[in-house]
Amino acid sequence: MRGRLEGKVAFITGAASGMGRATAELFARECAAVAVTDLDGPAGPETVAAITAAGGRARFWPVDVSSEASVAAGVAAAAAEFGAIDILINCAGIIGVDKPTHEVSEAEWDALFAVDVKGVFFATKHVVPHMIAAGGGSIVNFSSIYGLLGNDEFTPYHVAKGAVTMQTRQDAATYGRYNIRVNSVHPSTVLTPLVQGIADAYEGGLPAYEEMMTAHQSLKRLGRPIDVAYGVLYLASDEAGWVTGVNLPLDGGYTAR
Ligand SMILES: NC(=O)c1ccc[n+]([C@@H]2O[C@H](COP(=O)([O-])OP(=O)(O)OC[C@H]3O[C@@H](n4cnc5c(N)ncnc54)[C@H](O)[C@@H]3O)[C@@H](O)[C@H]2O)c1
Repeated sequence: MRGRLEGKVAFITGAASGMGRATAELFARECAAVAVTDLDGPAGPETVAAITAAGGRARFWPVDVSSEASVAAGVAAAAAEFGAIDILINCAGIIGVDKPTHEVSEAEWDALFAVDVKGVFFATKHVVPHMIAAGGGSIVNFSSIYGLLGNDEFTPYHVAKGAVTMQTRQDAATYGRYNIRVNSVHPSTVLTPLVQGIADAYEGGLPAYEEMMTAHQSLKRLGRPIDVAYGVLYLASDEAGWVTGVNLPLDGGYTAR
């Protein structure tokens, strides 16, 4: 049986944890060769080991998305190893400080934007020439429901995710002429290691945290990384060949209400 990503090469940032890792593992199961990239550390090689143990094809490169030189080197190495890059998943992200605008320092703002906004810019900038050369490609950016809606928490993060929403639309409008599709996913709260830590510290633990966080969702459970990875898979694959510029909520119905 052919995989849904047979013959494709995927470059994934932030691929060593949470939704990036779930996406890397799913893509490998669907027969993509996966460039697993993340900050240097044991989690990247562990992700690759899990993929290869399951019969998939992957290799790890340490890439800090806030550094253009690091991104350029990672993209060049992955393209040389696998011969092409057909899919880019911009998943790396940090949440930053939970402060309103008038309390945020310039350093806090810049540190968050360096990863969440410039990281998407750098990876897109360096992968697009490979896609143009190959005659097309698919880019999926990780935004958030808070790249579509405001609330009164984590202001720099929400503004940054709004920039990712707009980068998606702008690049979709620009690169269609090269058969490059650009879409974004917008999860509500997903039970990744980061969120598990917050839930454990919440009074009443995960059940109480889940009830509070899903009060405004139609489906009363937190997302799981695989819930999001399947949406990313669709957008990345040729099944979405006529889909570009879409900002897809994967949110248990949060934004529908
Ligand atoms: N978890 C949620 O509830 C949620 C909701 C909406 C959107 N998101 C977004 O989805 C994406 C994945 O989130 P997650 O919860 O799976 O995160 P996670 O913390 O589990 O994984 C993020 C990965 O990004 C990596 N990373 C951080 N800074 C980096 C850098 N400078 N260069 C390269 N890699 C870097 C981390 O090392 C980590 O492996 C992020 O962009 C996040 O903002 C998460």
